Amino acid sequence: MTHHKIALIPGDGIGKDVTEAACAVLQRVAKGRFTFETESFPWSCDYYQTHGRMMPEDGIETLRGFDAIFHGAVGWPETVPDAVSMHGLLLPIRKAFDQYANIRPHRPLPGVEGPLKADGFDILCIRENTEGEYSGAGGRVHQGQGNEVAVETSIFTRAGVERIIRFGFEQAQARRKHLTSVTKSNAQQYSMVFWDEVTQIVAKDFPEVTVSQMHIDAMAAKMVMAPQDLDVIVASNLFGDILTDLGAAIQGGLGFAASANINPDRSAPSMFEPVHGSAPDIAGKNIANPMAAVWSLSQMLDHLGEAEGAQAVFGALETATAQGIGCRPGAHTTTEITDALLSAMS
Ligand code: IPM
Ligand code: MN
Repeated sequence: MTHHKIALIPGDGIGKDVTEAACAVLQRVAKGRFTFETESFPWSCDYYQTHGRMMPEDGIETLRGFDAIFHGAVGWPETVPDAVSMHGLLLPIRKAFDQYANIRPHRPLPGVEGPLKADGFDILCIRENTEGEYSGAGGRVHQGQGNEVAVETSIFTRAGVERIIRFGFEQAQARRKHLTSVTKSNAQQYSMVFWDEVTQIVAKDFPEVTVSQMHIDAMAAKMVMAPQDLDVIVASNLFGDILTDLGAAIQGGLGFAASANINPDRSAPSMFEPVHGSAPDIAGKNIANPMAAVWSLSQMLDHLGEAEGAQAVFGALETATAQGIGCRPGAHTTTEITDALLSAMS
């Protein structure tokens, strides 16, 4: 049996609740399929309060020794500003481990009613995860004064754009063979026109995949009006971030939106986390929906080569929601949903 070493970073708020649920499911799915060990790291806003940083100086090096990282959620704005907590944990991990492909599936689970009339859509959003608008290049001068200036520069490299678009095409090739590249090249004449050009170049290597190019504003409308027409979407870091919250909303809510931060070259561990945040308002109340986290666990198993286990976990999600469990916010506790998932797998 293959052995997997998993790093857990439950983080803040409901991150802890959903990580616990995902671990229970991991324990169950492993039986007879694989062996694993976990090590849990308390890196979070609480950790920051004591140590003045989100993770130790050698945190990245510590994580490097694992096969995968499972992350709950980070952020507790009451004590640590979001920009500090995100730039101290989540974003450095994505960049340091070159997790350039952020895979976010959006499709409604059986029995889950989203806000749209349309159902039967199945969108895979591929978000660039290491550069673009989140490159971190910029600065502020004359801070707090009337002549203050703030600059934040998006950085798009040929290598970075090409590899994410190629990754998107590969996903489309393995699915319904349609890719929509999302930009705003009518207004952003340098970076986004460049992105469009690279899309056309990479497209030549995938003759079976049909390609559309859409602007982000039109895509926002399309995801509401006709999501069933979409297959794979590829977008920059910020655009992908925005569209995947929209994707979460149309699939029934953030409680269902999973995410995989993948290093496709496997030169460093990949990280799996639900799209939702730490949700301070419902933290510790045992009412967070663990389904997004468990779906992310299924993505992790797939990445680790446990396709059958991944399918078993995903099947449990479908079984539970088809029975009406976990479909509506607040209708079931985290424990009840977790128990339903476990019994769907036994
Ligand atoms: C996400 C989150 C993060 C992001 C935040 C917390 C920095 O919104 O994973 O979608 O924008 O990447
Ligand atoms: Mn987001």
